[in-house]
Amino acid sequence: MESINHLKGYGKVNPETLANPEPPKPQKRISSAVAISAVICLTLVITLAIAALIHESTTESPDESQPQSLSNSAESTIKTVCNVTRYPDSCFRSISTLNRSPNPDPEAIFKLSLEISAAELSRLLALFKTVNSDPATQDCVSQLEEAISRVNDSASAMRVDPGEKALTGDKVKDIQTWISSAVTDQETCLDGLEEMGSTAVEAVKSEMNKSKEYSSNSLAIVANFKGILDKFNIPLH
Ligand SMILES: *[C@@H]1O[C@H](CO)[C@@H](O)[C@H](O)[C@H]1NC(C)=O
Ligand SMILES: *[C@@H]1O[C@H](CO)[C@@H](O)[C@H](O)[C@H]1NC(C)=O
Ligand SMILES: *[C@@H]1O[C@H](CO)[C@@H](O)[C@H](O)[C@H]1NC(C)=O
Repeated sequence: MESINHLKGYGKVNPETLANPEPPKPQKRISSAVAISAVICLTLVITLAIAALIHESTTESPDESQPQSLSNSAESTIKTVCNVTRYPDSCFRSISTLNRSPNPDPEAIFKLSLEISAAELSRLLALFKTVNSDPATQDCVSQLEEAISRVNDSASAMRVDPGEKALTGDKVKDIQTWISSAVTDQETCLDGLEEMGSTAVEAVKSEMNKSKEYSSNSLAIVANFKGILDKFNIPLH
């Protein structure tokens, strides 16, 4: 009984110490100095929010987790496919984490890479939408929406009846064009932020690291698709 009261006593301390102070009353006239410091504050809040999300994403990303028991065949196929990319480690880790097939073919691996790119771009878009009070990031919202829709178009182009091969020579060309635009869209977002002298540019750059790598991986896979198939002695349809 005494120990319960003791604990309750401790409990009582918290609400008071944690209580927020009264928010300051808004001024009637907003001087330009106040407006400027409000902008600086907002920028800081945005930067901090992005920084917090960076921390979250680097600690929770699937990239960080170990691939689950992967068959030797799946592992070696994914490694061979990812070997054509500029970021083979990020390619291998992200795809092998998502892969559920004991024997994925290069086309299935490419599909997974599109899913990974789309998911990461969507995460980024959601993040930008939470900080859309910054005019510089508003342009990024439309560029990211466009990038996602290009990756979506690519994924839709690959939807075929089970057993059928989706990637014909013509589709490879189209998809290569779309993914290439998705990569450019992200660069355009960063360039825009840099041009506007946005203080968020460094935070956005590191936040965009994975989506840039993932879309670059998808682009490298589709651009080298014929060569990849050759390695497995599979003809391109
Ligand atoms: C990756 O490609 C390089 C040549 O570009 C080759 O030497 C290496 O053996 C390849 N690795 C795998 C795992 O295929
Ligand atoms: C992309 O596809 C996903 C899943 O199919 C969908 O939820 C999303 O709205 C699409 N986004 C765009 C921009 O087309
Ligand atoms: C992402 O970050 C890593 C580690 O800093 C770096 O090596 C890599 O080049 C970055 N990727 C992109 C696309 O900037």
